[in-house]
Amino acid sequence: GDEEAQQAFDELIERDQRIEPRDWMPDAYRKTLIRQISQHGHSEIIGMQPEGNWITRAPSLKRKAILMAKVQDEAGHGLYLYSAAQTLGISREEMMQQLISGKAKYSSIFNYTTPTWADMGAIGWLVDGAAICNQVPLCRASYGPYGRAMVRICKEESFHQRQGFEILLELMAGTEAQREMAQAAVNRWYWPALMMFGPPDDESPNSAQSMAWKIKRFSNDELRQRFVGMLVPQAEVMGVTLPDPNLKWNEERQAYDMSPIDWTEFHEVLAGRGPANHERLRRRREAHEAGAWVREAAAEYARKQAERAEG
Ligand code: ACO
Repeated sequence: GDEEAQQAFDELIERDQRIEPRDWMPDAYRKTLIRQISQHGHSEIIGMQPEGNWITRAPSLKRKAILMAKVQDEAGHGLYLYSAAQTLGISREEMMQQLISGKAKYSSIFNYTTPTWADMGAIGWLVDGAAICNQVPLCRASYGPYGRAMVRICKEESFHQRQGFEILLELMAGTEAQREMAQAAVNRWYWPALMMFGPPDDESPNSAQSMAWKIKRFSNDELRQRFVGMLVPQAEVMGVTLPDPNLKWNEERQAYDMSPIDWTEFHEVLAGRGPANHERLRRRREAHEAGAWVREAAAEYARKQAERAEG
């Protein structure tokens, strides 16, 4: 019965083993995973836009090829994550509808604009850097298809982070104007990147249960701290300044002290009032409509193939 199934589930979690699609799982566990994995997939798909925006303007053929490959990786991650969510019983169409209707969440970070080439560097270094910090522990998430998807995604993410670091490093070795452009981009993306980890622990309604289920392994604030710790030495190598005058290692707490985060801005962005929310959804909707004929043709082709196979 259900009680036995619940017990088997609890034991798997307890022993750090994996839940697979055909296993029994509590409804709330399934719902949480659909929520998190679909939001994550949407973030990758919407996340193609701020950088896709620069493909035609990349400063060299080499930079253009790298950027195109990166944006393609993001599409791949999105599709991979949608497939993982589908194993939980939600369809691709349903997820797409939730996204283009504005009902679904996706990461706050992708609602910021990319006015300069240096923003490509800052996104790679800070946004993909934050993504790695958050996602490496997700490789051990208790749900098998999600954890496995994360392994591959993290490998590609670390390449993305290095390419961003390298863009900034090169700009910082350039002219005065290039150094200023790099620093300005870091100033723009630093705080929004810290917000990617989600609300502070005492305002994070999903954390306790997700940690008990071993979906999340560390709290939002723990990962944020780890991220800042990773950035400090890298910023020194590049010669950029992290835009927080109160950022300082606290020997006693064994953690960085930092200025308070502007959570009002975070909530505004989540409510759809960030700098580019409207534009991101509009573009996504247009792309979905423009691709309708491809989906129809593919479905029709599959139907004909099946008919032929039946003889
Ligand atoms: N942007 C948008 N929404 C956010 C963000 C954010 N940066 N952080 C938290 N939220 C939302 C949560 O989705 C949740 O909303 P919901 O209950 O309506 O779904 C709400 O704020 C409260 O937050 P938490 O209780 O802390 O939510 P959760 O336990 O899901 O933690 C987190 C949030 C850390 C983002 C988690 O979902 C996660 O690790 N997701 C996978 C990683 C991911 O999605 N990355 C996307 C950006 S990286 C990239 O794509 C390159």
